[in-house]
Amino acid sequence: MDARPIGVFDSGLGGLTAVRVLRRILPEENLVYFGDTARVPYGGRSRETILRYARQDLRFLRSFDLKAALIACGTVSTTSLDVLQAENDLPIVGVVEPTCRRALAVTKNRRVGLIATLASVRSGAYEAALRRLDSGVEVLCRPCPLFVPLVENGRFRPGDVVIETVAREYLAPLLEWGMDALILGCTHYPLLEEVLSAVCGPGVALVSAGEESAFELKRLLTARNLRAPAGGKGEAEFYVSDRSEDFEGAASLFLQEDIHHMARRIDIDQY
Ligand code: DGL
Repeated sequence: MDARPIGVFDSGLGGLTAVRVLRRILPEENLVYFGDTARVPYGGRSRETILRYARQDLRFLRSFDLKAALIACGTVSTTSLDVLQAENDLPIVGVVEPTCRRALAVTKNRRVGLIATLASVRSGAYEAALRRLDSGVEVLCRPCPLFVPLVENGRFRPGDVVIETVAREYLAPLLEWGMDALILGCTHYPLLEEVLSAVCGPGVALVSAGEESAFELKRLLTARNLRAPAGGKGEAEFYVSDRSEDFEGAASLFLQEDIHHMARRIDIDQY
């Protein structure tokens, strides 16, 4: 048993897709969330810059006495997971492996589509993990650089003509190719779930990176006897690197939990 908090981070709102699942499947756990809202998006940046940011994000979270960390960001997981794991004496879970395992469990025709940020697609990490797990799988990847800025600006609701047009254009080649499973390889994308499933139709299963990593973390905590005592109610704390008000509005909506006046702004350059 271990009541210390779990650290969760992302470049912005996206990691909340993991937080939402964690609150449901591990309600007794204390969480500390950091969204690097001053520097989002990470997805178009170089690996060196992403690693530098990720080190600072984790250093900030480690100012709390963490028992584990979840990198709830596809971009950091695909580019920096191995380095962060090697540098930290802390169990760290990323999103790539658990998501690929899930995609392979749901695909029937073994044609898996992947949408993610530019940095994630460039890294080849999802593709490599899929092929390691199933050498016969076919994978088609497509970067979607406009999705994260649109989500961060609240343009994720069905009926929004801008996001719907962009989604149709990004997904067209994947649909033509005949995928039956689509990995949402960036944790911002599940906020677009309704829009994306309307474009894809019922024949394509959507697999969310944030969700699968939350289940992986639960398995890890259980295996290492690190779970918080059962029956308690865990607290969640939220930190951001820019205006907290903007984050609180979108986060409350998405988590279906009122977190107004709960997010605190920190200076990430001090870490
Ligand atoms: N949620 C991040 C990811 O999963 C964000 C990407 C970004 O900041 O561009 O890749």
